[in-house]
Amino acid sequence: MSATFTEPRPSGALLLLGEGSDLRSERGVECTGALPPASDPDLVERARVARAALGDRAFVLGHHYQRDEVIALADVTGDSFKLAREAAARPDAEYVIFCGVHFMAESADILTHDGQAVVLPDLQAGCSMADMADIAQVEEAWEVLADAGVADRTVPVTYMNSTAAIKAFTGRHGGTVCTSSNARVALQWAFDRTGGVDGDGKVLFMPDQHLGRNTAVLQLGMGLEDCVVYDPRRPAGGLTERELRDARMILWRGHCSVHGRFSAENVAQVRERVPGIHVLVHPECKHEVVAAADQVGSTEHIIRALDAAEPGSAWAIGTELNLVRRLAASHPELAVHYLDSTVCFCSTMNRIDLPHLVWAMEELAAGRVVNRITVDADDAHWARVALDQMLALPAPAPTTAG
Ligand code: 13P
Ligand code: SF4
Repeated sequence: MSATFTEPRPSGALLLLGEGSDLRSERGVECTGALPPASDPDLVERARVARAALGDRAFVLGHHYQRDEVIALADVTGDSFKLAREAAARPDAEYVIFCGVHFMAESADILTHDGQAVVLPDLQAGCSMADMADIAQVEEAWEVLADAGVADRTVPVTYMNSTAAIKAFTGRHGGTVCTSSNARVALQWAFDRTGGVDGDGKVLFMPDQHLGRNTAVLQLGMGLEDCVVYDPRRPAGGLTERELRDARMILWRGHCSVHGRFSAENVAQVRERVPGIHVLVHPECKHEVVAAADQVGSTEHIIRALDAAEPGSAWAIGTELNLVRRLAASHPELAVHYLDSTVCFCSTMNRIDLPHLVWAMEELAAGRVVNRITVDADDAHWARVALDQMLALPAPAPTTAG
């Protein structure tokens, strides 16, 4: 049995985990089919059989924030940058099974050819940050910039965590996509198009204000006063024309609900508790957290830093819990701490679980393509322009802050 909310959802009504969908949401497609119960003792074996039946016809991508049991079935794991490249590099796979979130699967669809189907095992696996910017709001913001006389000096840069429609907007207006791995090179590229970091050009950075601010201030040497926050829920973004003209970085008011919870007090407390500890955080954390940390980097960077760490050293990690738990387990020679014990898993990443993955693989093995993610041709064309621009940027160097 599945449920679909086509009418306004009764206040307080929750969807059953794994069943139904909210048609008003960005992902708005019903998740059809009977899922195996999570209690099925044969789930792991069913997964193994379905995966073997699919063979080389399928390629399974797993983001670093996925559950252990999903990571165990992934052909490759990575951050959003690496997974975008991996998807683009598998033209022979008929099915790309994306164990991650919706915007990543959209990007994979754009980067693969029409004969390949990108499948997201649970269509409810979205991203609350990506949902903080919709295309109508972005078009309106661009008009606000035009009215202030600054649109022609502004390059849009959108984080990978955004809808395909916003990536397409970015491609149409000569901008680029970036990820947490390459935000510095992407911003440098964008400013170089309008007279350099010391010129008077601007970047409209969407939708994560923290990644934009952290990169501009800590890596490009700008001041906090060069950044303004555009709030899509306020008239003209809540900014005066003067503020828009004076700004270098126009930051969309969006944030990650997981990383946004780490605080500067967490950093101070862990340093007091564990003298000499290295604090390593994701750039989606607030500016004061990143400024107080020793290092900042994408999920791939965090993994590499721990792989290279001195045995016996202590590390406090500020990113999603699934990844930190795996890092702690795979590095018994290190003391790996979670930066704040009240911050937990990304609930939408966690929607991809064994029942959904088994269901999707069994359906594909039976010749039924389920939960296919497709982007319409016009958006796909322009989003690809912005994604290709990102893939053409120079390789990102490791980042350090604090
Ligand atoms: P990465 O770019 O590090 O994979 O991060 C993606 C993401 O969603 C982080 O919250
Ligand atoms: Fe989105 Fe944050 Fe989850 Fe990443 S961790 S998918 S940014 S909500």
